[in-house]
Amino acid sequence: MTTTLVEAPAEPVTKARDEAEVRRRVHHEADVVIVGAGILGCALAVALGKQGRSVLLLERSLKEPDRIVGELLQPGGVRALEQLGLSDCLKDIDAIPTRGYDVIYHGVPVQIPYPKLEGSSSVSEGCAFHHGRFVMKLRQAAMDCPNVTVVETTAVSLVTSPHTNQVLGVDCTTNGSKDCYFGQLTVAADGYASKFRKEYHPHTPKVKSKFFALELIDAELPMPNHGHIVLSDNAPVLLYQIGTHETRALIDIPENLPSASVKNGGVKGHLRNVVLPSLPKSVQPSFLAALEKNQLRSMPNSFLPSSTNKTPGLVILGDALNMRHPLTGGGMTVALNDAVIVRDLLSPENVPELSDTKKVLKQMSAFHWKRKNSASVINILAQALYSLFAADDDNLRVLQRGCFRYFELGVIEGPVGLLAGLIKQPLVLFWHFFAVAFLSIWVMISEDPLYMLPVNILRSIAVFWTACVVIFPYIFAEMKA
Ligand SMILES: Cc1cc2nc3c(=O)[nH]c(=O)nc-3n(C[C@H](O)[C@H](O)[C@H](O)COP(=O)(O)OP(=O)(O)OC[C@H]3O[C@@H](n4cnc5c(N)ncnc54)[C@H](O)[C@@H]3O)c2cc1C
Ligand SMILES: *[C@@H]1O[C@H](CO)[C@@H](O)[C@H](O)[C@H]1NC(C)=O
Repeated sequence: MTTTLVEAPAEPVTKARDEAEVRRRVHHEADVVIVGAGILGCALAVALGKQGRSVLLLERSLKEPDRIVGELLQPGGVRALEQLGLSDCLKDIDAIPTRGYDVIYHGVPVQIPYPKLEGSSSVSEGCAFHHGRFVMKLRQAAMDCPNVTVVETTAVSLVTSPHTNQVLGVDCTTNGSKDCYFGQLTVAADGYASKFRKEYHPHTPKVKSKFFALELIDAELPMPNHGHIVLSDNAPVLLYQIGTHETRALIDIPENLPSASVKNGGVKGHLRNVVLPSLPKSVQPSFLAALEKNQLRSMPNSFLPSSTNKTPGLVILGDALNMRHPLTGGGMTVALNDAVIVRDLLSPENVPELSDTKKVLKQMSAFHWKRKNSASVINILAQALYSLFAADDDNLRVLQRGCFRYFELGVIEGPVGLLAGLIKQPLVLFWHFFAVAFLSIWVMISEDPLYMLPVNILRSIAVFWTACVVIFPYIFAEMKA
């Protein structure tokens, strides 16, 4: 049996810690086995390791990931990273500080800076980077933690007790041979295509659109150090700089879009004929150049409501547990906030022995509700904003225009605080959403000629109804256990 082990550097360690290390390396046994050294897995491994837990972190490939996801970290995520003591992971990766958004509605821009830091005149900052570089930093932090052992192996299935259905660990394949790892607690953090969700999570992801990605070289963005959201008659386009020379373009393409049909030249035809002309002039040359290089990549944009972990010995976290449309770049912020909450709820003071599955399940039920304050804001906002920004009927277009007017009026701090993951109050989101709905109706009535008034009064009801249909399903999804 060959196992690739990446060990923490040697340093004076206690006897107990040595023994735990040997148990992990030789006997494949730990307090916690985490599947997936991505954003959530690494952060949690370090957090639990620092509490003195013995942690095995399993990852199918320790090579630097090359992905188009998780490239913009909201200020709320930066803050969570600080709470985990992992701020250094944002250093030396050629990260670009972000100070807010530039929303461009049919060519008209409005700047939306992140809120000011408490007691300071500067705005809070987010950060954009190459995903793989950030993940490598997180993995290094896990490897540097003497209580964590990182192993390159692919998890295949969970090992369960035949009598109690308790999860005892995972079966893996390492370089083609079978292997297993055991822990008092197994954490599935294996991302959006989780292997373990089917059996242990009651919901399945819903996909209504995909993000197609291009990497632009030396693009000239209208507002440097800002995320750009381009709104037009098409679904939204995101632009943000992720390195000194690189800018990410993410183009949302809804399922079965006619202009992206094979007959019309497929996705490439759509990007060239429809999307390119809608972009800021300064970005068009680099966009075209990237398109010509023909390195289009795509990812599904999924929605997956979370659910309480009820299986003894198992915890599902990260994208495996809960996903929302990536329009607002909230996934990593949710994952890092969750790592903070789980760390506190499962601390040795709260749960002395992780083998006490009853206690762990009780804490995980508390987790489900405790995470709502931050996660549900990000989830509902992402889904609702996507419906507005990808408006495909007239009522949604009225709401989209109203939303933009809302920003133009300068009502910015609340909405962007929610988006940034800094305001953790679902009610604030609810309030702003319906303020946008009423403003949209007002804008529709006041910007149309007077003779339209009778029609528009009827349409107001339709628009209001549409607003409810946009948001309530996602609110209800958050209220389920
Ligand atoms: C198009 C797109 C753009 C996005 N943009 C942003 C953004 O700008 N900002 C943001 O905050 N979020 C963004 N997200 C969301 C973000 O990427 C995720 O929320 C985040 O990466 C989730 O972290 P995770 O640890 O749960 O999963 P991942 O980061 O995906 O990590 C899962 C890990 O598990 C490993 N793994 C999988 N299966 C196995 C197995 N069987 N055995 C061993 N290891 C395994 C994988 O190799 C991987 O390393 C985006 C998502 C999409 C789809
Ligand atoms: C590792 O665990 C031990 C207990 O086994 C604890 O005393 C120590 O603080 C932990 N080390 C680190 C670096 O977190």
